[in-house]
Amino acid sequence: SSLLLILLAILPSGSHIITGYGFSIREATIDDLQLAFKQNQLTSRQLVDFYIGEIRKLNPVLHGVIEVNPDALYEADKADHERNAKAPRSLSGLHGIPILVKDTIGTKDKLNTTADSFALLGSVVPRDAGVVTKLRNAGAIILGKASLSEWANFMSLAAPSGFSARGGQGKNPYVLSVTPCGSSSGLAILAAANLVAVALGTETDGSILCPANFNSVVGIKPTVGLTSRAGVIPVSPRQDTIRPICRTVTDAVYVLDAIVGFDPRDNEATKAASVFIPQGGYRQFLNENGLKGKRMGVVREPFLDSYNGTSAIPAFEHHLNVLK
Ligand SMILES: *[C@@H]1O[C@H](CO)[C@@H](O)[C@H](O)[C@H]1NC(C)=O
Ligand SMILES: *[C@@H]1O[C@H](CO)[C@@H](O)[C@H](O)[C@H]1NC(C)=O
Repeated sequence: SSLLLILLAILPSGSHIITGYGFSIREATIDDLQLAFKQNQLTSRQLVDFYIGEIRKLNPVLHGVIEVNPDALYEADKADHERNAKAPRSLSGLHGIPILVKDTIGTKDKLNTTADSFALLGSVVPRDAGVVTKLRNAGAIILGKASLSEWANFMSLAAPSGFSARGGQGKNPYVLSVTPCGSSSGLAILAAANLVAVALGTETDGSILCPANFNSVVGIKPTVGLTSRAGVIPVSPRQDTIRPICRTVTDAVYVLDAIVGFDPRDNEATKAASVFIPQGGYRQFLNENGLKGKRMGVVREPFLDSYNGTSAIPAFEHHLNVLK
């Protein structure tokens, strides 16, 4: 389609190298970015500048972002100063790293919190969501709000996935005519298209797993209560969880480590779950060879039946073989 042509025309023009030191931001992980900070090859301001430029170029096609934080560059400068001054906070893994959050997650700043609905536009939240407080304490930069299936898919049973009145139709960056899946569609689109370093969303039933799957990125679904729901537009108190969408497992674990834990404003659930958080967080369990020697079950029927005869089947078998 013409949209695809537009995207193809735009993508190669993206500046792969933006610092004077040969460091490439595209596809960079949190570890890559922190190393580049440390070696003075990159500043948070350059990083935020890069993402804002990419959002300007690609968002008119992809519709993954609804608002960019007008204070993001100011926050980036603050992070750069803290790093240079070796302030204690600057040792955190998320320090100076831009993150986009789903528009159901409350932020007390210049950004609106609307569940991507015109009904809430202009309302002012009393405070940051519990997870946003934790992100800010870790030094992360809230870059903006990501689009979603309006009201997290609970607007209408017939609404298309990834669609909202405010944001328009979110597009899968790999195949623009294919659904990005929802409801955390914007986050997965942005992670996949390199419009942000990491992203944070919510899931009630499939709202992270499905978009992560369709956009070929990583989502983690934590137990209810591991992450605070305080200040997040709710769907179901029995099922809602707040969780990362990123390009790599390691990045997702870094974000998870930053947001888990007790929050008095979501007292009952986070108190019960915080007992199970391992000392030192989850990153100690990251293991590059974690799949070695494991046996995997593949349930082909009935899940593959509807793809019978399409190119999805050989693609699936190919990726399964790579995993093996
Ligand atoms: C928040 O919504 C208002 C409209 O009520 C708009 O003027 C403002 O630009 C929005 N904020 C951001 C950061 O986009
Ligand atoms: C797939 O289609 C072929 C023929 O088109 C058929 O023989 C086969 O049984 C189908 N498999 C499934 C799982 O439906």
